[in-house]
Amino acid sequence: MEKQFRETLGAIDWGPAYYINPVGYLFESTDPTIGWWDTATRHMPELDKSADILDVGTWFGIMPRVLKEMGYTNVECTECAAHNTGVRDKLTALHELFDIQPYELEVFPGKELTLPKQYDLILILHTNMHWKIHDLYCLTRTPEQTTLTKEWQIAKGEGTHTFFVPWNLSEWQTFITSIKKYLKPGGQCIIQPHPWPYDDQPEVLEFLQPYILESSMEQATLCIK
Ligand SMILES: C[S@@+](CC[C@H](N)C(=O)[O-])C[C@H]1O[C@@H](n2cnc3c(N)ncnc32)[C@H](O)[C@@H]1O
Repeated sequence: MEKQFRETLGAIDWGPAYYINPVGYLFESTDPTIGWWDTATRHMPELDKSADILDVGTWFGIMPRVLKEMGYTNVECTECAAHNTGVRDKLTALHELFDIQPYELEVFPGKELTLPKQYDLILILHTNMHWKIHDLYCLTRTPEQTTLTKEWQIAKGEGTHTFFVPWNLSEWQTFITSIKKYLKPGGQCIIQPHPWPYDDQPEVLEFLQPYILESSMEQATLCIK
């Protein structure tokens, strides 16, 4: 899958997409030499072209665009309004260009998730789903005023500062029990929690151990069957 995926990614003309949204993240994730998808595609099973595939948190929609180009006929995807405020118009334009129709899905910590059907493969790649952004508050004091907001990402200088509290053990237990209900017999879910913050959390690490294929801060990959 890895090689075929990379070849297809490289064969698509992404020019019209760059015109809509000329950002580094889009350039990097469509450049086959960068290998944005390599870790995930290395672990993706060979599936029948009619397999039911779901890409959760598709963002630009690159994964479904490439899978459809490869001949997969039943590829669905989701997007999450709480995470795409401010860029939704650009994403919608890309989704129209790619002829994909993501449905709205937000997975909440510790809550059972609801999907419309079962899938052979569920992909949740480079995901920040495990960030409990709704639990964070941002207290900002300036000489003029003090404000309390729900902001979780702040641009400062040349970089951004992102704050999150990762899912705890029981939240992971709920998620894994829940996602398994939406896997067809023999199906699997590949999830890449990014970044991976669990190396100093032995309880969570021990629970997730059977699912871990690769774990590093930037490249953690889990497979749930
Ligand atoms: C960093 S982007 C990854 C996009 C793409 N999958 C990739 O691999 O490049 C994270 C995606 O996860 C989605 N997302 C974040 N939190 C979520 C949640 N709680 N439930 C569902 N989707 C979520 C975002 O809307 C976004 O599409």
